[in-house]
Amino acid sequence: MMLNTLQALLSSFGPSGNERAVAEQVKALLAGKADEMRTDAMGNLIVEKRGQAGGKTIMLSAHMDQIGLAVTDVEDTGFLRVTALGGVSLEKTAGHAVVFENGVHGVVMCQPTKGETAALQHVFVDIGAANREEALAMVKLGDACVYVPGCYALGQHRCTSPAMDDRCACALLVELLRQVDAPRNTIVAVFSAQEEVGIRGAATAAYQINPDLGVALDVTAWGDTPETKLPAVKLGEGAAIKFMDRSMIATPAVRDALIDAAERIGAPYQREVLPFGGTDGAAIQHARGGIPAGTLSIPCRYVHSACEVIDLRDLDSALAILKEFVNGQY
Ligand code: CO
Ligand code: ZN
Repeated sequence: MMLNTLQALLSSFGPSGNERAVAEQVKALLAGKADEMRTDAMGNLIVEKRGQAGGKTIMLSAHMDQIGLAVTDVEDTGFLRVTALGGVSLEKTAGHAVVFENGVHGVVMCQPTKGETAALQHVFVDIGAANREEALAMVKLGDACVYVPGCYALGQHRCTSPAMDDRCACALLVELLRQVDAPRNTIVAVFSAQEEVGIRGAATAAYQINPDLGVALDVTAWGDTPETKLPAVKLGEGAAIKFMDRSMIATPAVRDALIDAAERIGAPYQREVLPFGGTDGAAIQHARGGIPAGTLSIPCRYVHSACEVIDLRDLDSALAILKEFVNGQY
């Protein structure tokens, strides 16, 4: 069931600032499963599942947006010049196929001249247009493209796709809302907008929801490939409970409640100490006068590439931990 949900969400087009298709997909997946659904001015989709009397309000946030490239100009020769929406790495983006919302495809190249270090000015997108006029009949300045979607199994438990950051956590949140009935605490699930460009949607969502506590659901980096030993997080060893990253130090009470939930049910988990990066958890924690917040992470290799890899067992572990966590006493 998780895999079907994940595949549906991975195929939706959703660069930062244009998350509508993802929100529609989430709404369809959650039809009849929520007490309330609304979209706000930032493009966040907010889904409520009411808890029992005396329960607290828990905000859970997973971002819908994915990194992409936005068209800044078109050359006379028909090539598109672009800027990055979110943390696009030049070295990872070149050589990949991209698609625009209207279905136009392109390929990304980066061609520094001899002796120059690659920079954004060397990146262009080839959409097959012969000249500027032909290109502008296909795309407009400001249009955004993303890596062509597609999801492939790797071995028995893993799969790869662009947009795994953070659709795997959107899938997790959808499955939680589908599977949990009458939780002790009210769940306010935020499918947030514009995380990749600076954790923007979760900030306005946390302000309006004003929860008692919050948890971001996002991918985290990996330390288990030949040249990467940091952080000490491995695929397949369970969801990661964040201690800190560059944007936040998890509130100890929330972090420990996640750990306690994992231990009560015997779900595998890892302790995550990330020396870089950030999540919606920071926006929740810094909202208003400060709100207790943490992050539950899905280990993901090659984050922000066209082939992000997760292990489905880690998603299962995260779902089990969350089911226990939303029924805790806070
Ligand atoms: Co990201
Ligand atoms: Zn993310």
